[in-house]
Amino acid sequence: MASNKQEVSDKVKVVVRCRPFNQKEKMMCHKQVVMVDEIRGTITVNKLENPHEPPKTFTFDTVFGPDSKQLDVYNLTARPIINSVLEGYNGTIFAYGQTGTGKTFTMEGVRAVPELRGIIPNSFAHVFGHIAKAEGDTRFLVRVSYLEIYNEEVRDLLGKDQMQRLEVKERPDVGVYIKDLSGYVVNNADDMDRIMTMGHKNRSVGATNMNEHSSRSHAIFTITIECSEKGVDGNQHVRMGKLHLVDLAGSERQGKTGATGQRLKEATKINLSLSTLGNVISALVDGKSTHVPYRNSKLTRLLQDSLGGNSKTMMCANIGPADYNYDETISTLRYANRAKNIKNKARINEDPKDALLRQFQKEIEELKKKLEEGEEEVISTSVVLARAS
Ligand SMILES: Nc1ncnc2c1ncn2[C@@H]1O[C@H](COP(=O)(O)OP(=O)(O)O)[C@@H](O)[C@H]1O
Ligand SMILES: [Mg+2]
Repeated sequence: MASNKQEVSDKVKVVVRCRPFNQKEKMMCHKQVVMVDEIRGTITVNKLENPHEPPKTFTFDTVFGPDSKQLDVYNLTARPIINSVLEGYNGTIFAYGQTGTGKTFTMEGVRAVPELRGIIPNSFAHVFGHIAKAEGDTRFLVRVSYLEIYNEEVRDLLGKDQMQRLEVKERPDVGVYIKDLSGYVVNNADDMDRIMTMGHKNRSVGATNMNEHSSRSHAIFTITIECSEKGVDGNQHVRMGKLHLVDLAGSERQGKTGATGQRLKEATKINLSLSTLGNVISALVDGKSTHVPYRNSKLTRLLQDSLGGNSKTMMCANIGPADYNYDETISTLRYANRAKNIKNKARINEDPKDALLRQFQKEIEELKKKLEEGEEEVISTSVVLARAS
């Protein structure tokens, strides 16, 4: 139904995923300190150095052990959010955790291997599978954008000029947005995949070490889905859902990596976005704060709606299984534990001011009229409406 204005109070859903031991950890005979109980939804961490200290146990909505399959992670965490976005809600999926714990594996995975695909590529097939099944005169318009925040600067990964830095702006009618960010209209899952590859290539532009770069930058892949349908009032209504898929910078503290100089500056700035994210979460859940510091970093400004606002949000906290990561693992679990208490208010976005579908439909109607009237005009329209058939 297009005329549903219902607001649902949703808590941010928090899940934890523990990756398997890697080759190096096996070789160095690191000990396993993380136990995952998928049935109870608990993560228990032991402190080996101090056997008298009782193990710490944390409970979450869902937890995934080292043998978890990408598709199960998708079905249990992302699928319901993507379904909501197809109905016109906003959605956000985050991966949070120390570098090397599987954030990118969870969000992207290995795109060329179907069973190793992560949340982002699995969502492509899901979105277009849904569109293919839509009936009647329902029309969809899907577009994507892809950006990176590095050193508190926003770069358009799909932009023509990779040297350009973009501004974060705000307008009362559409909220926070990025000026001049490219948006590509896509017609199928392959289009999306190609665009993602294009953005990927740009992620490494200017980076001397791609791993270092990706562990210090935040990447946001956004899919905007507009759907036009006849409502109960007999008129066409547009609903628009925005899905942010976020691969955050590594959450390890700079002390551990021994960063100095330029590297330290980067670490501080990354920590500005990440620590602001932490402060935003604290302010939202402590019940006393009257001020939530969204404006203190680019990341939290862009994701303002995702935390405490109009969005269905899921955070995946990624951790490693081994003893030498004990401190980081506990810190990630504490962070995730706090995030469980954030309350959002998601609603279907009906007839939003920035919908393109209505604008395009108007243009197409006008062009059709002109054609019928026999006007000799060169018709060029850069958009193809994904038609439900
Ligand atoms: N659940 C998992 N199963 C198998 N391999 C994983 C898993 N999670 C991470 N890995 C592997 O561990 C390495 C680090 O993961 P990555 O996603 O790059 O970490 P991050 O993005 O958090 O820095 C990669 O080689 C990745 O393939
Ligand atoms: Mg990564």
